[in-house]
Amino acid sequence: MGLERAAQLLRGGALVAFPTETVYGLGADARSGKAVAAIYAAKGRPSFNPLIVHLPDAAAAQDYVIWSEAAGRLACAFWPGPLSLVLPLRPGHGLSSLVTAGLPTVALRVPQSPVARRLLQAFGGPVAAPSANPSGRISPTTADHVVTGLGDRIAAILDGGPCTVGLESTIVGLDGAPRLLRAGGLAVEEIEACLGQRLETGHHTGITAPGQMLSHYAPNASLRLNATRAALGELLLGFGPMDCDINLSASGDLLEAAARLFDCLHTLDAMNKPIAVAPVPMRGLGLAINDRLRRAAAPR
Ligand code: TXA
Ligand code: MG
Repeated sequence: MGLERAAQLLRGGALVAFPTETVYGLGADARSGKAVAAIYAAKGRPSFNPLIVHLPDAAAAQDYVIWSEAAGRLACAFWPGPLSLVLPLRPGHGLSSLVTAGLPTVALRVPQSPVARRLLQAFGGPVAAPSANPSGRISPTTADHVVTGLGDRIAAILDGGPCTVGLESTIVGLDGAPRLLRAGGLAVEEIEACLGQRLETGHHTGITAPGQMLSHYAPNASLRLNATRAALGELLLGFGPMDCDINLSASGDLLEAAARLFDCLHTLDAMNKPIAVAPVPMRGLGLAINDRLRRAAAPR
């Protein structure tokens, strides 16, 4: 599938799955309520939680939101990249209210993956895109994952190879004091260093923190966390030098572990056995890795 053809499909209101450096996204024209509604239908999402709008650059972002100094700093340092910013909508923004779920703010992101950037440039408009997986399942980090989960429900899938970051973007709310809304592919420490201040955490009023349905990232198999060894019948997902069935990173590299996390879960899940997971340290990307593991392990 060529990029021009994919952009044309988006213009016609169809759904196009595309690679980003975080996870594969299920894209639709963010100005079309009908196109955005089709995202929810394809994913089988039970509720209309707000979606991230993808743009080719920070200049385009300023067409939709009231920009701020903090936004400028973060965009300058980390866009394109695995960071989404939540900012107040600007009057006349033109986005479908289904994208924002009726909120006065919107989440924006400028992805880095070359295929995503070329698609956004060819399309020339805002693309709403959640992860391209059926609701409640593990996020896709390869085109194969997308085909398996949603293949029959979307118009096209662009293949850009495996995602290099492998975790959804970090989401920072800038509609008040800078706040961490979702840990993700950009380490909190880097964001705080750039802003010169700590991020607030915890829930604020209005919408609960993003992607927060507990079983959001769930595999079929049960998951036991912080395991030092596998019990009888369990598969062990390791971290660091150890004996295990699959290792997130034998050298204990958190970047490598993040990039491999969802793929390892997909692979283990296909083996239909309970999964034990070794401890992953809570620094850098370990925060987001542990967040996704907790969700995958949550009872449902
Ligand atoms: O890496 C990513 O962010 C991927 C790729 C495809 O870009 N996208 C992604 O989208 O993870 P999604 O829909 O799975 O997650 C978007 C999250 C939602 O959980 C939502 O709660 C939060 O962003 N969000 C969106 N708009 C928001 C807003 N105005 N205020 C607070 N949270 C918002
Ligand atoms: Mg998702």
